[in-house]
Amino acid sequence: MFGRDAAPAFEAAGFPVAGGDLPAVDIASPESLARFLDAHPADVVVNAAAYTDVDGAESRVDEASRANAAGAGAVARACAERGLFLVHLSTDHVFPGDRPHGYSPGDPPGPAVNAYGRTKLEGERAVAAAMPPGRFLVCRTQWLYGRTGRSFPDAILRLSAARGELRVVDDQWGAPTYTDDLAGQIVALLRAGAAGIAHAVNGGGPVTRFRFAEALVKAAGLACRVVPCATAEFPRPAARPRHGWLRQGLPTLPVRSWEVAMCDYLRATGRAAA
Ligand SMILES: NC(=O)c1ccc[n+]([C@@H]2O[C@H](COP(=O)([O-])OP(=O)(O)OC[C@H]3O[C@@H](n4cnc5c(N)ncnc54)[C@H](OP(=O)(O)O)[C@@H]3O)[C@@H](O)[C@H]2O)c1
Repeated sequence: MFGRDAAPAFEAAGFPVAGGDLPAVDIASPESLARFLDAHPADVVVNAAAYTDVDGAESRVDEASRANAAGAGAVARACAERGLFLVHLSTDHVFPGDRPHGYSPGDPPGPAVNAYGRTKLEGERAVAAAMPPGRFLVCRTQWLYGRTGRSFPDAILRLSAARGELRVVDDQWGAPTYTDDLAGQIVALLRAGAAGIAHAVNGGGPVTRFRFAEALVKAAGLACRVVPCATAEFPRPAARPRHGWLRQGLPTLPVRSWEVAMCDYLRATGRAAA
């Protein structure tokens, strides 16, 4: 999702992109990575490849680990060997998700809320261990959605077009983040020479999933009634962060509110109310 959406945004910002995905490049295979990187000389690598099935990671931890931990380390070593700057995407799931005031980039991560988060935290650590300081940026984001792929807004809009009522959890807080805005923030961070750890999310403060869903349905002009409920009513294999809001910590970043970004997404996908 992010890779496909970000490529045109990076290009528009003046960064030509050579994109790669499975099977052309497997980040957990040093040989495959070497072939890809040597065929596409670059200055910066943005690693958006990951095992992202949060529930699936509970029972398929080896598979998740291969991409999120071993893969992240392999990308970092390949970048370090070639002198490339690495932007590595990570997640709020590296935190326990129990802090109502949210997490800043300087807060120590862990224990991660679930198996997916544990593999992503291992990946962050592998990147920091392999890359020279100042030559990498771990960019954590959350509640990411975009024009391609599966996402929370896509599911809400599909379900609410088919149903008269939709129950959505009202006790998970976070920052909905549009892929275009994340891409824009990465460009700004690169231009500012940022390194280390950054939190890149849309602004407007934390909201619950219910509040986000309600805003989506209203802005899409759908008649569905959105009803708040508790996470306990929808048990899932993986725990979710209740209070995982990522505080930005960088006042100079171009941050749009989640509501403005959401309206852009609805227009871009032809789903905005007439
Ligand atoms: N989506 C969110 O809400 C969210 C929130 C916070 C952070 N993030 C992070 O943001 C990044 C991008 O997420 P996304 O939502 O765009 O994920 P996505 O749509 O699932 O894309 C990840 C891509 O990585 C590919 N991949 C998996 N293993 C690979 C490997 N070994 N080598 C090469 N490619 C591989 C996947 O291919 P297959 O589909 O074939 O497996 C998929 O195309 C990830 O680091 C994710 O952890 C996402």
